[in-house]
Amino acid sequence: MYKISFGSDNHSGMHPAVLQALHKANDGYCPAYGDDPLTEKVLADIKQLFGGGCEAWFTITGTGANILCLQSLMSSFNAVLCAATSHINVDECGAVQKFTQGRLHPINTPDGKLTPALIAPRLLGDRDQHHSQFRLISISQSTEYGTLYSLAELAALADFAHAHNMLLHIDGARLANAAVALGCCLQAMTKDVGVDIVSFGGTKNGLMCGEAIVSFKPELTKDMRFYRKQATQLFSKMRFIAAQFEAYLADDLYITNAMHANMMATLLAKRLAEIPQLTVTQAVTVNSVFVILPEKLIEPLQAKYHFYTWDEARNEVRLMCSFNTTEAHIADLLATIKSLL
Ligand SMILES: Cc1ncc(COP(=O)(O)O)c(C=O)c1O
Repeated sequence: MYKISFGSDNHSGMHPAVLQALHKANDGYCPAYGDDPLTEKVLADIKQLFGGGCEAWFTITGTGANILCLQSLMSSFNAVLCAATSHINVDECGAVQKFTQGRLHPINTPDGKLTPALIAPRLLGDRDQHHSQFRLISISQSTEYGTLYSLAELAALADFAHAHNMLLHIDGARLANAAVALGCCLQAMTKDVGVDIVSFGGTKNGLMCGEAIVSFKPELTKDMRFYRKQATQLFSKMRFIAAQFEAYLADDLYITNAMHANMMATLLAKRLAEIPQLTVTQAVTVNSVFVILPEKLIEPLQAKYHFYTWDEARNEVRLMCSFNTTEAHIADLLATIKSLL
């Protein structure tokens, strides 16, 4: 139907089990806006998955989840520290600023990752009444650069945030890919290391649409449902998001899908690295591969496959794998690259 895509993991459709779950949920009538038993049950399952003592809400999009995580924990006079390459800074059209009325404070990083050492200099000076007050550190796990925070790095950031009267937010659009890469459960990567609020992404890993926000500070996020309604993230036929997540959690589908996507990226990087004219630029930890291609290859390859140029100045492109990338897709791409060379 379309070209084979390495453009993004949301170029893939739904996992068949998710599609089947939607079909099953389609039967009969059901209260809307989350007042249905399935939504209640699946949210309870999610809270348990993250270790309990937390609150959870569904959103429709990842941008919506990010806005709400931040908005629920800050005021208009606050600022959010984030990586310059973060999705909230680059790819959300100022949505965080619009909804929170606060500021983003982007920091350049070598690899998309924030560290206490990178943040500390930004906190110097007395931030008196003339300055936005830092309230949150926002990171992505895995990052937009396909890099990962270790559990120790996450714990260090959470401790640093709390020591400076701030909170730690994770944009978890690819949280499952990160959990697979670290070989840990979702609780270990969030609650156990002191994360305050996280989004658990579904859309990029086999759902049609749906993310879950999990707050480990329920006492601070009591107004979440009102913010969600204002941000147009309250999906009326909520049973369909719940049904997707039910299938996503059943038999650990979120793990199976993420594991497959990560494995395909590892295979793709290995095959690309065997070609001397190409340079894989980042260690592959999750489901993206960054590679420098000879310039003459990019246009003819893009005629056949979908992918994005990441850094035009050096012909670096990003190739993403997803739950339905196959070894045949990879072989096809490699054969085309070899024929063009
Ligand atoms: C790291 C990250 N966060 C959030 C999002 C936002 O997701 P959505 O497009 O569903 O708003 C994306 C989507 O590309 C993403 O890559």
